[in-house]
Amino acid sequence: MRIIFLGPPGSGKGTQADLISKEFSIPKISTGDILREAVAKGTPLGKKAESKMKKGELVDDETIIGIIKERVKKKDCKKGYILDGFPRTLPQALALESINTDKEIVFLFKISKEELVRRLTSRLVCPKCKAVYNLISLPPKTKGICDICFTPLIKRSDDNEETIEKRYKVWEAEEKVLNDYYTKKGNLYPIDASLGSQVIFEQICSIINKNR
Ligand code: AP5
Repeated sequence: MRIIFLGPPGSGKGTQADLISKEFSIPKISTGDILREAVAKGTPLGKKAESKMKKGELVDDETIIGIIKERVKKKDCKKGYILDGFPRTLPQALALESINTDKEIVFLFKISKEELVRRLTSRLVCPKCKAVYNLISLPPKTKGICDICFTPLIKRSDDNEETIEKRYKVWEAEEKVLNDYYTKKGNLYPIDASLGSQVIFEQICSIINKNR
C-alpha cells in the first residue's frame, strides 16, 4: 500500500503523515525532511539542494527520483509507506509507476492561501527529532522547547512570507498536472485541510480502511 499526500505548503501533509505512520505502522517518507537533513549535514546532495530550497523552487527530478528509488527499496517499506511531498511533477509521478505497482491511495489537501500563510508563519520545528509545532494551534508545553527531546525549536528557513509566496506559486503549477494525472487514475481523494487535525486524521483513516 502506497499512500501519497499532495498539497500546498503548510496544508498539513507532514502532520497527517506522522499520525498515519503511527496508526498503520508504515514509514513516512518526506523528501523535504531528507533534503533538509542533507543540507544540515552539508552532504553533496545538501549542497545541490540548498539554494533551490531557500528560493522555494523544486529540486531537479533526477535527484529526487533517485532518493525515492533508494528509500523505498528498504525493508521497512515492505508493508507500505507514505509519501509526503512526492511526487511534485509528472516525471516524478511516472517514475513511481516504474518503481512498483503497489496499491495506491492519493490524498489532495485543499486549503486557502490565507490559512496556509497563517500556519507557516506560526510553525516551529524541532531540528533534532523533526516534531512540528504551531504557535497558534499546537504550541509546545515549554515556550521554544521541543516536548519530546527538549531541543530548542527553530523556524524553517523557507517559512518567510516571500518564500512562502514562491512555494505557493510553484504548487499552483504542480496541482493541475498532478490533479489531472491522479483523477484519470481514479485514486484521488480531496481533503478539506482547513478542518482540525483529528477530524482530518479520522477521514483519512476511514478512506484507507475502505480501500486497502
Ligand atoms: P517540503 O518539506 O515538502 O515542504 P512543503 O511541501 O512546502 O510542505 P510543508 O512541509 O511546508 O507543509 P506541510 O503540508 O507538511 O504542513 P505541516 O504538517 O508542517 O519541501 C520543502 C522544499 O524541499 C521544497 O520547496 C523543494 O525545494 C524541496 N522538495 C521537497 N520535495 C520535493 C520534490 N518531490 N521535488 C522537488 N523538490 C522537492 O503543517 C504546517 C503548520 O500547520 C504546522 O505548524 C502544523 O502544526 C499546523 N497544522 C497542521 N495541520 C493543522 C490543522 N489541521 N489545523 C491547524 N494547524 C495545523
